Amino acid sequence: MAAIELKSLRDDFSIPALGQGTWRLGGATERSSGENDVADVAVICRALEAGLHHIDTAEMYGAGHAEELVAAAIADFPRERLFLTGKVWKNHLRAGEVVAAAKESLRRLKTDYLDLYLIHQVNLEIPLGETLEGMNRLVKEGVVRHIGVSNFHRTRLLEAIALSPAPIVANELHYNLQVREAECTGTLEACRANGVMVIAWRPLRGVALDVPLVTELAAKYHATPVQVALNFLISQPGVVALVKASDPRHLAENVGAASWRMEEEDVERLRREYPGQRSVSEAVPLL
Ligand SMILES: NC(=O)c1ccc[n+]([C@@H]2O[C@H](COP(=O)([O-])OP(=O)(O)OC[C@H]3O[C@@H](n4cnc5c(N)ncnc54)[C@H](OP(=O)(O)O)[C@@H]3O)[C@@H](O)[C@H]2O)c1
Repeated sequence: MAAIELKSLRDDFSIPALGQGTWRLGGATERSSGENDVADVAVICRALEAGLHHIDTAEMYGAGHAEELVAAAIADFPRERLFLTGKVWKNHLRAGEVVAAAKESLRRLKTDYLDLYLIHQVNLEIPLGETLEGMNRLVKEGVVRHIGVSNFHRTRLLEAIALSPAPIVANELHYNLQVREAECTGTLEACRANGVMVIAWRPLRGVALDVPLVTELAAKYHATPVQVALNFLISQPGVVALVKASDPRHLAENVGAASWRMEEEDVERLRREYPGQRSVSEAVPLL
């Protein structure tokens, strides 16, 4: 299958409009028993075959086991066609720890570099400048191509931009039809204004789609409600999305959302009229 289209806000960085998540593959915060490993590797392989070449993972997922499963899935996939995102967990945010954590991730992933490395969550006990010192060392050493943040509120994002010699190219945020914290806090706007790509996580889980406006737009675009939910995100300038689908039918439906774009006025209608919007993420509020 053809690869998903790339999006870009700056000359030196582009990223696929839709990527595959790996949260809960190989365990949640702890390593799984391993009984689902074969099936979990197959999930990632199918996503790659379907054209989702952005794989999002983190050292925290399955306490490192998700990265080992990704390694198995990408072993025979051309590295240059892959876009691999990793994240450093908030217990490793001292400069030296950041560098060591990234190198451990590469070892588990059996690869030479990450395309994008993110500070997974804010840790108020560690000065941001210290973490960014480690992140910048990784860029200089070629361990990671680009750096960014995740779950960063507008204010802290601007602080990171000011402190980091290497550009902050992305902010991974809980953003979907229902969870609008990124909009309400001005974080989405600040990202766009500073050339920072928003990578929307959890575009589907918990999002009500049995809604007349969604049904109406699904009919208009000959699409499914799920595809409308994904398109609300990827049709916006400066926004890409991550979705985790284990079921092959879900994967096919999601990939089917990536080849078209919604008209701007329909994005704006969903922005205004989608019912039951929340101004704060119940999972990871912005800090
Ligand atoms: N940076 C962060 O702090 C952060 C936090 C959370 C997540 N993430 C990343 O974002 C990724 C996506 O988020 P998520 O996995 O939490 O949520 P999600 O992708 O919104 O939802 C996943 C759930 O939706 C189902 N699903 C997928 N496609 C579907 C479809 N077409 N129709 C119906 N159901 C469908 C999946 O079922 P099946 O598996 O059965 O197909 C699964 O139960 C994660 O995997 C992770 O990589 C990042």
